[in-house]
Formats: sequence, structure tokens, C-alpha cells
Amino acid sequence: MPHTKILNYQNESLQGTIEVPGDKSISHRSVMFGAIAKGKTTVSGFLLGEDCLSTIDVFRKLGVEIEVDGTNVAITSSGIDAWKEPNEVLYTGNSGTTTRLMLGILAGTNLHTVMTGDSSIGKRPMRRVIDPLRLMGAEIAGRANGQFTPLAIQGTQLKAIDYTMPVASAQVKSAILLAGLRANGTTIVREKEVSRDHTERMLKQFGGSVTVDDGVISIEGGQQLFGTHVNVPGDISSAAFFLVAGAVVPNSEITLTNVGVNPTRSGIIDVLRQMGADFSIQIEDEKAAEPTATIIVRTSQLEATTIEGDIIPRLIDEIPIIALLATQANGKTIIRNAEELKVKETDRIIAVVTELKKLGANIEATEDGMIIEGPTKLNGGSVKSYGDHRIGMMAAVAALISEEPIELDDSDCIAVSYPTFFDHVEELIHKSK
Ligand code: S3P
Repeated sequence: MPHTKILNYQNESLQGTIEVPGDKSISHRSVMFGAIAKGKTTVSGFLLGEDCLSTIDVFRKLGVEIEVDGTNVAITSSGIDAWKEPNEVLYTGNSGTTTRLMLGILAGTNLHTVMTGDSSIGKRPMRRVIDPLRLMGAEIAGRANGQFTPLAIQGTQLKAIDYTMPVASAQVKSAILLAGLRANGTTIVREKEVSRDHTERMLKQFGGSVTVDDGVISIEGGQQLFGTHVNVPGDISSAAFFLVAGAVVPNSEITLTNVGVNPTRSGIIDVLRQMGADFSIQIEDEKAAEPTATIIVRTSQLEATTIEGDIIPRLIDEIPIIALLATQANGKTIIRNAEELKVKETDRIIAVVTELKKLGANIEATEDGMIIEGPTKLNGGSVKSYGDHRIGMMAAVAALISEEPIELDDSDCIAVSYPTFFDHVEELIHKSK
């Protein structure tokens, strides 16, 4: 049974410095690439969240040697052809990234595998990945003709495709590129809106070659990757909760160090700027495979804004906490073109609107987003997370400014991406007299 948590943080400000845990997307990929590559890969700053542990578990079942020592991970592999066929089901838990990227990886092996996840994964659309993989010759079966888990994959020799992405999704793009690594010929993926590019960056780190030109990504099949070192920066999607908390909680100043600021992920920074938040950003390592920054945020006077178009994929995971931010801004914030929220860990349009409304926010759902009118005081009350880590953390940040305590039905799900979240909240709380 998940644990209910009473969030009682009234009359407190936030002060201090924290380093958020490693980036979820990059942590997954570090293990995947380490397992695909020949030789030893070392990873530092790995996220020990449940999703990334699911990825490790899947590769251990495929016979890949993985050692975990704190946030350091070592992967030793002789390459894909040395993986062994598992005699048990590969369990991907709550992780869409594990499930979808593994489809692209497993489709081009010579193994038969079966993959399944939790009840949330069982509702998430898989055809968006399986359709292009089938065009490459992949043999994948699942419920509703491959729409839902459990999925059975019979690995086979793949052929390259030229594919125009119908949705902006890094998981779909990455699955195709990973399949393209094993396909005959050159696989091309065309993106209308640029999604996060961690896969493309990491391919190069592992000695692979991929070209990116104005939304057209090309990868040659038959490349061998080699083990390397991956330094995982802090996850901007986790930092987002404290960027917003720092801006909305009175008398606060929070310093966030080592935050990954890959431009395909940093839409939240643009939104904070648009809304007039009081923050400064110091880029530390622009030339690194994944750039990082220190960000200092202070209590702010906020103005409403409109969030739509190209920026959406650059902040898709941050929309729940941006909605909370908008409840504290002057005027009407409009979020459009964000229909992808409906197929996340839960339908995040319904979840955000229902739960913030319960707290007294002036917020309405639309077909492809939401409209929030602020500023409004938030009351306390009972809030549901829907088993979704980002809805749970949104509720916790709401509790920092609500007039009464908030009771969160399931706080355990936060461990999916940020196991130390509540420790960091406690560390930053500065008791006012
Ligand atoms: C991710 C891509 C995004 C994001 C998810 C992680 C990734 O999903 O929401 O949290 O690591 O590639 P989509 O590809 O469905 O947009």
C-alpha cells in the first residue's frame, strides 16, 4: 500500500544550496549505451530512482555485468551479440523510457524477449514506437496489435527507414535511432519540433557517428560503440520543483548546482524569464557533452504568460509545476499544444487541473492544455498523485504555500525520479520565528 503523507509546511521560507540527483533520461541512456558498447563504461552522478533501477535490472537479466556503488555505476559488456536470452520477463516498472527505448534495442538482436511494466505502463501507447520499428522489419506482438504491454519481441535483422515523426517524442526518436544502429543502411528520422537530444549526444560519446541537420537525424547501421565515461548532470526536471518553490515561497533564496541545461530541455528557464522570476544562471561547462549551470532563484513577483508551440517539448515534464507557478502569477496563463500530457505516467491535464482546483486554484482544462488565472491563495486538503511522481512533487510544492496542510495520498511514487526529494525540502526549510 502506498503511504499517505501529511505535508505541513506553513509559514516557512526556503534557504540554502542543493544539488538535485542525476538526470533520469541521461542515466537510462548511460546504462543502455554501456550495455550496447564493447568494453567498460563508468558512470558518475547516476540517478538511483526506481525508473533507472528498472533499466539496470533489465540489462542484468540480459546477462550484462553492472556494478552500482552509490551514484557510480560500472557496466562491462562484450556488446549486444554477447547478451543472453532471458528466461524470465523483463520488468520495466513505471518507466516509459525503459520500455520504449528497449523496444528499439531488442528488435535488432537475435533474442526472444518479453517485456512488461506496472499498471500505468500497461495503459501507455506503444504503437508510436512499434509502428516505425515494424517498418524496419521488427517482429513485436502485444495487446491490441502491439499497442499495450506485455510485449513479445522476436529479434531480427532490421532494415533502415526514412521516418517523419508524427509526434515530438524523444522516446520514439531514440528507439528508432537505437534500432538504426543495427539496421542495414542509413536510418533517417525527421523531427518537426526538436525533442531532447541526449541519445544523439551520447552516441558520439561512445564513438558512434550520427548527423543532425535542421531536424533531420541520420545514423548508419552496423556501427560498433565502445565503452567510455559518462558524467550525468543534475536533472533540470527535478530542479524545476525547487526553481518554482524558490520563486513562490516568501523570503526564499535557493541555489541549485550542477543542473543540466541542455537547450532541448531548458524551456522552464525561458518560462521563468517570461514570467519575470528573480533568478540568475551561471553556465559552468558549456562544452561538456551535456552542459551544466548553477541557478539561484529568489521569491518573485510573477506575470502570466502563454506557453505554446516549439517550447512545449522543451518543458513537457515541467508543465505540472509550471501550472502551480501560474496560480501565483498575475493574469491569465495559457498552455497550448501540450496534448502529449495525456499519455504521460497519468493524464497530466486531468490530474493537474483536478488537484489544483481542489486547492482553490482558478484553472480549467482545455483540449490541449490548460488556462490558469492568478494569483490565488491555495487552501489545504486532500490531494491525489495518481501514482505519478511529478504530480506528487507538485502537491508538495503547493503545500509550501498553502494556508492549511495538504494530505498527499501516495508520496512513494516520487522515488521514481527523485528519491531524496523530501530530504531536500527539509534541508531548505528555514523556520521563521
Ligand atoms: C523522455 C522523453 C519524454 C519525457 C520522458 C523522458 C526520454 O517523453 O516526457 O520523461 O528520456 O526520452 P516522450 O518521448 O514521450 O515525449
